[in-house]
Amino acid sequence: MAKQIQNKTLLMHLLILFLYASSLTVSARIAPLLQNYGNSIFRSSFHTIYDTSNYGLLHLNNGLALTPQMGWNSWNFFACNINETVIKETADALVSTGLAELGYNYVNIDDCWSSVIRNLKGDLVPDRKTFPSGIKSLADYVHGKGLKLGIYSDAGAFTCQVRPGSIFHENDDADLFASWGVDYLKYDNCYNLGIPPKKRYPPMRDALNDTGRKIFYSICEWGVDDPALWAGKVGNSWRTTNDINDTWASMTSIADLNDKWAAYAGPGGWNDPDMLEVGNGGMTYQEYRAHFSIWALAKAPLLIGCDVRNMTAETLEILSNKEVIAINQDSLGVQGRKVQVAGIDGCAQVWAGPLSGNRLAIALWNRCSKVATITASWASVGLESGIHVSVRDLWQHKVIKGDAVSSFSAQVDSHDAHLYIFTPSTASYSAQA
Ligand SMILES: *[C@@H]1O[C@H](CO)[C@@H](O)[C@H](O)[C@H]1NC(C)=O
Ligand SMILES: *[C@@H]1O[C@H](CO)[C@@H](O)[C@H](O)[C@H]1NC(C)=O
Ligand SMILES: *[C@@H]1O[C@H](CO)[C@@H](O)[C@H](O)[C@H]1NC(C)=O
Ligand SMILES: *[C@@H]1O[C@H](CO)[C@@H](O)[C@H](O)[C@H]1NC(C)=O
Repeated sequence: MAKQIQNKTLLMHLLILFLYASSLTVSARIAPLLQNYGNSIFRSSFHTIYDTSNYGLLHLNNGLALTPQMGWNSWNFFACNINETVIKETADALVSTGLAELGYNYVNIDDCWSSVIRNLKGDLVPDRKTFPSGIKSLADYVHGKGLKLGIYSDAGAFTCQVRPGSIFHENDDADLFASWGVDYLKYDNCYNLGIPPKKRYPPMRDALNDTGRKIFYSICEWGVDDPALWAGKVGNSWRTTNDINDTWASMTSIADLNDKWAAYAGPGGWNDPDMLEVGNGGMTYQEYRAHFSIWALAKAPLLIGCDVRNMTAETLEILSNKEVIAINQDSLGVQGRKVQVAGIDGCAQVWAGPLSGNRLAIALWNRCSKVATITASWASVGLESGIHVSVRDLWQHKVIKGDAVSSFSAQVDSHDAHLYIFTPSTASYSAQA
């Protein structure tokens, strides 16, 4: 009798498990939606300016990425020249510089960690020369620092540096990553056998889910198949563009390409315009400050791409700006976007995005070759005309105007960006309500 009951309970559990598994692609939506956002503060164009048609759709719903991921990735600085020493020293440096405490918690190994062939059992194996202690031991080390470990594979036959890819090995590789204690997977797009991304990326989602370990799933199909349109059901973030490089031309063009998909980002799934180049030497201080400001405002992953063991004071200052990080990590999770342009080829730009508490993040970005005065009008950022705001400058760390109304202007150096928070004064909107 007792045994029968046990069997029945077992059946029930199996049934529940089955229902659970079949709900894999069912979405949940987080409340509240933006519909009721700041009625008397924002004009009706607000919802057109900040189209949030996919906002809050937790398609993948693995409990991760409620705000964009933060951390470090080996590729932009080290490329293939990595080893376990560098990864450990990076984890140490993230802690000792205070970056870890600010939220940079993923330590992500990119391509080249793996041996060029699988072992006889068909498993991936870490390169014996560069990762002699193995990934499990590295994960333990990184976890011991209170950080998380990310790894890399490819939705194809080989990775871009011609190590074994994971296509048709999704379950085995996901199990292996989970057994090592991996917390994050960047999944690349080389040697993809001409199979469409929509077919190649979901199997790894399901394999990761089946491991039972929460593993952040970062899709990297370079934006080729407009992933914003479908990847919300598949991953926690999706690259929208080709690889960034450490130049002003690359950074600006990628910011623009990524901007197109703003309506599709939200808690649970983010557009990914690629990792940061701040600190790698190819751009000026002002250009890096603009890069970091726009990535933060656009709710991009903040994955540091320089050698954090050896940063200049300026690099550390940019990366550790708490107020800018707070914009990126704001609980509302709406991607800011380009809302107004002026000047030659539209080089004097206003980027803006809603923040929690009826506030706005505003960037004045001067992409012109000369200093320029850039004006954000209330119409372009979606504020009602009579609203008074206080303006806080996040690079100067102070309120620079207590009471701005109808527009706000500032002189911005060439290739620099100013980043502000506009906080509407309660008096001005309760008077209108
Ligand atoms: C590990 O990699 C770093 C960065 O490329 C390099 O400077 C260092 O010599 C390497 N160490 C070993 C033991 O290979
Ligand atoms: C697996 O997917 C289900 C359904 O979306 C989700 O509730 C669960 O948290 C996921 N588990 C993991 C480990 O990602
Ligand atoms: C960097 O990116 C820009 C813009 O996409 C491109 O024109 C340039 O060739 C790239 N440079 C390198 C070194 O890859
Ligand atoms: C540290 O960075 C500087 C450039 O900022 C470079 O010249 C120097 O070689 C680096 N040192 C090490 C040990 O990597």
